[in-house]
Amino acid sequence: MNNVIQKNLSYKKYVIDSKLRYFKPHASKIEKTFAEEISTTLSNDPKFIAPKFFYDKKGSELFEKICGLPEYYPTMTEIQILKTVCGELNDYLDESFRLVELGSGASVKTRLILDAFFSLQKTTEYFPIDISEILTESSEMLLRDYDRLSITGIIDTYEGGLKFLRNYDDRKNLIVFLGSSFGNFSPSDGEDFLKTVNSTMKSGDLLLIGLDLVKDKQILESAYDDSIGVTAQFNLNVLSRINDELDADFDLSNFSHYSVYNDEHRRIEMYLKSLVRQSVIISKSNIRLDLEKDELIHTEYSHKYSLEQIRILLEGTGFRINRTWVDDQKYFSLTLASKF
Ligand SMILES: C[S@@+](CC[C@H](N)C(=O)[O-])C[C@H]1O[C@@H](n2cnc3c(N)ncnc32)[C@H](O)[C@@H]1O
Repeated sequence: MNNVIQKNLSYKKYVIDSKLRYFKPHASKIEKTFAEEISTTLSNDPKFIAPKFFYDKKGSELFEKICGLPEYYPTMTEIQILKTVCGELNDYLDESFRLVELGSGASVKTRLILDAFFSLQKTTEYFPIDISEILTESSEMLLRDYDRLSITGIIDTYEGGLKFLRNYDDRKNLIVFLGSSFGNFSPSDGEDFLKTVNSTMKSGDLLLIGLDLVKDKQILESAYDDSIGVTAQFNLNVLSRINDELDADFDLSNFSHYSVYNDEHRRIEMYLKSLVRQSVIISKSNIRLDLEKDELIHTEYSHKYSLEQIRILLEGTGFRINRTWVDDQKYFSLTLASKF
């Protein structure tokens, strides 16, 4: 294992104690990637900011607030389904598994899965992968509550974390990807991503993926445009982050949150709308952004699926479905799959 770690020279290693360590790309690399990506995607037509950039400290806190909103059914529904799943998960696991989580965030739902692991193992290894620094706080909170746990966190993109995991060792992994975060990918990027997950998995590894289901348009639209405006703050916060980290001069009062359900593509589309004709300088990205009044900057897709689509998607990317669980209202799904 040490050999593998030494090969990952692009990561800085932080050993907190015998139960907790993190790997994180060097700060200069993170800033350079952010500046370059923003320069490219805001020069595109249509203009775009990738949703992974929502999650600075403030963005992660706002996302946690969204999870507690009455309109935001995905979190409560997925937790409800997970309670059933975790009662049955041991039929598929054995004592040799490690828990890997993509986009672990606050690791709240993780606790239900960890309980299933503890009923099988004396000690459990958890491998959270998240681009946000929230990973450090969540890991420390988990370790305060569970003494049979050890954590290796990768503070990086999903792809970076999966590359790290590949060839890490021979241990079997249950990879979980919750919150329908997969729905943020465009259909073609999503397929490529599932193929990457699949190629990272060894025979015997499992994937548990939470995906949001197609439902009434009104329920969907209010989940992404709540009555007290937390989702709006979350969306606008990415501009504050660009101001702070890339030395830009976005005036947030010149933008508004706009989200809509696109029936044809079965997805919520989230945008920042420019309320006036304006120019913005992003110094570290070396660009001047010219925006027309009412021009939209695309910030997020959130695709919704039918169960048949999920089956086709997973089977088409090299998986065999072991089991799919849904709630009574058929709002959300969790699917357990293995590599063909
Ligand atoms: C929608 S939240 C879901 C959090 C949690 N899994 C849940 O279900 O409540 C997405 C999480 O994934 C992380 N994330 C988003 N895009 C990412 C990316 N491209 N690579 C790694 N982490 C990412 C965010 O920081 C955030 O914690």
